[in-house]
Amino acid sequence: MKEKINKAFAEHFGEAPSRLYTSAGRINLIGEHTDYNGEFVFPGAIDKGMVARIRENGYDKVRAYSVDLQEYAEFGLNEEDAPKAQWARYIFGVCREIIKLGKTIKGFDTAFAGDVPLGAGMSSSAALESTFAFALNDMFSLGIEKFQLAIVGQMTEHHYIGVNCGIMDQFASIFGRKGSLIRLDCRSLEYEYFPFNPKGYKLVLLDTVVKHELASSAYNARRRSCENAAKAMGVEFLRDATFEMLEGVKDKISAEDYKRAYYVIGEKQRVLDVCDALGRDDYETVGAKMYETHWGMSKDYEVSCPELDFLAIKAKECGVTGCRVMGGGFGGCTINLVKNEIYDKFIVEASAAFEKQFGHAPKVYPVVISDGARRLE
Ligand code: GLA
Repeated sequence: MKEKINKAFAEHFGEAPSRLYTSAGRINLIGEHTDYNGEFVFPGAIDKGMVARIRENGYDKVRAYSVDLQEYAEFGLNEEDAPKAQWARYIFGVCREIIKLGKTIKGFDTAFAGDVPLGAGMSSSAALESTFAFALNDMFSLGIEKFQLAIVGQMTEHHYIGVNCGIMDQFASIFGRKGSLIRLDCRSLEYEYFPFNPKGYKLVLLDTVVKHELASSAYNARRRSCENAAKAMGVEFLRDATFEMLEGVKDKISAEDYKRAYYVIGEKQRVLDVCDALGRDDYETVGAKMYETHWGMSKDYEVSCPELDFLAIKAKECGVTGCRVMGGGFGGCTINLVKNEIYDKFIVEASAAFEKQFGHAPKVYPVVISDGARRLE
């Protein structure tokens, strides 16, 4: 990937010295659709990410080349300069959100590429935002602290892409650390690293390769449901609600909002239970909670799809310890906690059964928990 980027950078912008930055995609062991509800998430950065070569160019414009799409874009740094191409809007958004913090950035040239599968629920967009947020902060010595860099990425999604996402993806991408998952309390923003190397188990993602066209509007609709339910219960976040409180407002909210809130309130406890279980090396409990999350996301939160449900059922049949849809949902991957001794058999059987049912094989990504945003050169 680095060679491709170097070549493209030299071709478009010449050979003068430049810097190389990277940031990562993420997995999330458990705690889904909890971040914007002020609850907990439990993600980690992965060994797939985005890499960007970058150099100040002495103009007031950004000149950017996407090596993967083989597309070039050029844009200014004022609000009215927004580029049309979606990939360039991510970079533009990061620039704008940094400027809104009262910081000064200048024009730059960049060529970048990534290896996070798009639309697979591994946060390729957060990797892109975090790479540029980190790079600009470092290159222009802006002194923005790391959490704020994650917020720059999140606000880019809100203001320039139209997804009202929570903080999880950008947080994991910036704060990721090799070998550790991070439990983030999305209300207090306190976080804790948990070394994660379960003996005798592997983590693997199975990608359905299904992409939901309307995923972003459906995501925003889920978020609105949660806000409706929280409001009806008189709390700021569903974090502060209980099942009893939810029962109390059942007649006052829509059946749909009720189901959404029911899932979210349950998910808070599941994350805490998983962290406790990990402390005891109790992977059976970890896995059981993952399945509970899957079916909550499928039946109550309704962000699964037939392909993901098929994989969850197959995983259970094959004796996989834990399996669930990962990330926002509406397609993408399942995350699987699998005992070493059944790993190969599971991959072969699940892939073959999936292909027979849906006409294409799922993609298989073993998970390596890795470092997040950093300068490479
Ligand atoms: C997407 C969002 C995150 C989070 C997850 C679901 O990845 O970007 O903020 O809400 O969905 O857990």
